[in-house]
Amino acid sequence: MTTPRTYLTTPIYYASGEPHIGHAYTTFLADALARYHRQAGHRVRFLTGTDEHGQKIREEADRRGVTPLALCNEMAGRFREAWEELAISHDRFIRTTEEDHKAVVRAFVQRLHDRGHIYAAEYEGWYSVHEERFFTEKELGPDHTDPIAGRPVERIRERNWFFRMSAFQEDLIRHIEENPDWIYPEIRRNEVLGFLAKPLEDLSISRPKSRLDWGVPLPFDEDHVTYVWVDALINYLTGSEAIDPARPPGEQGFEDTSASWWPADLHLIGKDILTTHAVYWPTLLMGAGLPLPRQILAHGWWIAGDTKMSKSLGNVVSPLELRGRFGTDAVRWYLLREMPVGGDAAYTPERFLSRYGELSNVLGNLASRTVSMVVKYREGVVPEVAGEGLEAEAESALAAYHRAMESRRVHEALGAAMDLARAANGYVEAREPWAQARDETRADALDETLTTLVRALVLLSSMLAPAMPEKMPELARHLGLDEVPTLEESRRTSPGGTRVAKMTALFPRVELSGDD
Ligand code: MSP
Repeated sequence: MTTPRTYLTTPIYYASGEPHIGHAYTTFLADALARYHRQAGHRVRFLTGTDEHGQKIREEADRRGVTPLALCNEMAGRFREAWEELAISHDRFIRTTEEDHKAVVRAFVQRLHDRGHIYAAEYEGWYSVHEERFFTEKELGPDHTDPIAGRPVERIRERNWFFRMSAFQEDLIRHIEENPDWIYPEIRRNEVLGFLAKPLEDLSISRPKSRLDWGVPLPFDEDHVTYVWVDALINYLTGSEAIDPARPPGEQGFEDTSASWWPADLHLIGKDILTTHAVYWPTLLMGAGLPLPRQILAHGWWIAGDTKMSKSLGNVVSPLELRGRFGTDAVRWYLLREMPVGGDAAYTPERFLSRYGELSNVLGNLASRTVSMVVKYREGVVPEVAGEGLEAEAESALAAYHRAMESRRVHEALGAAMDLARAANGYVEAREPWAQARDETRADALDETLTTLVRALVLLSSMLAPAMPEKMPELARHLGLDEVPTLEESRRTSPGGTRVAKMTALFPRVELSGDD
């Protein structure tokens, strides 16, 4: 049997601002899925990185009085550090200013040109610097503002290169109709189909250097740079190692991607960048004759008050600040557990604490009482009995967990694990091990209780490790294991005979401070 392969991507984040919990959420989602698949034995490629060209970066660099590259070096460093502190397990961090990537962009647009999908034309339209794209008159908000951030747009007239996106409209509609899960969730699929119900315009893929010099020059017209969204989307291909720009045309990998990671199994994005990923990107790939990604998952927004959290609105919550107070896994847990994949969620300190409470009161409590009972009643050694007292609950939690993870509903998978932890606490109350311990004739029953609880905790450590990669290994060590077992191992093996280690609280209690 060949090992299943999974290639997952996050958007590449603009190198113009600090990472906030919106960026962290997409990245956590990808990380949890990557870890879940690795645990199941898949070969995984997990790509993330920074988007470093275009007007937004140029303007931010000018504002700070530094070169665009200096700004990008600094910000790419920030993102890398943040992901390290937040335990992100990406395999590759891509920067669009890397030579390799720029070469792939040039090879890609050259191929579109060679295949006759690119032409030059005069263009006049409403341009938003903030969103880095043109909007049609119909799309505009009141007083000539863009419909996304409500920023003023400018009327621009220039000669540009265009990609014949309109030629692929029918093929794209057919693809979406034939593959109902291609865009998840359904509400986003319908949004794209709605967008495609109107005639698709061709896509301007260049910017004259006279207006913007910070980008990848087009190989067939060095006076123009590649439109930043085209440049950025191609990162997924660069990161797959499908294209070798150093080789001559015909041998670069466009004809056959099977030796590479392409096509991606899943592009994780926020709903703000749906059109670029579900319309521009697949049509560009069709133009280049490449296979399409297998799925696009568009999640909702973290909102603050009643608007999207974003740097430009100045209402961002820093994941690193939360981490400083509560720890990496608490931040991951909150974001992944609180937001139903696909829906919106509001960040509030109260909700954060209530989700944290689940960790300390349900999971942490279960772990500390179990370990201390094994220490107190069995000198720290887990009894060698079956420990099948929670068999039915474990089976059903696991089935729900897999179902949810396979359909990318990570919040639900975590909920299934938490249900098992609750059931295990209920089991403690029902079995009353402290009463069993007082009665010599019930020694066997006590053994069964303790091993059942340790078994449940071992399984929970496997189920929760994709979300909490720091605390679950700690839990496993307290349970006498060297590392978190795979889900399969934790179902197969009995913990009997292992020696537990006295616990310090996994999730110490915390209080809100006056500033929250
Ligand atoms: N650079 C582009 C993406 C190019 S991908 C080829 C971009 N960058 S971004 O820095 O603005 O980050 C966008 C992504 O960050 C969103 O798609 C989403 O995944 C995440 N989020 C940013 N703000 C968010 C919220 N307030 N809530 C949830 N996620 C959001 O767009």
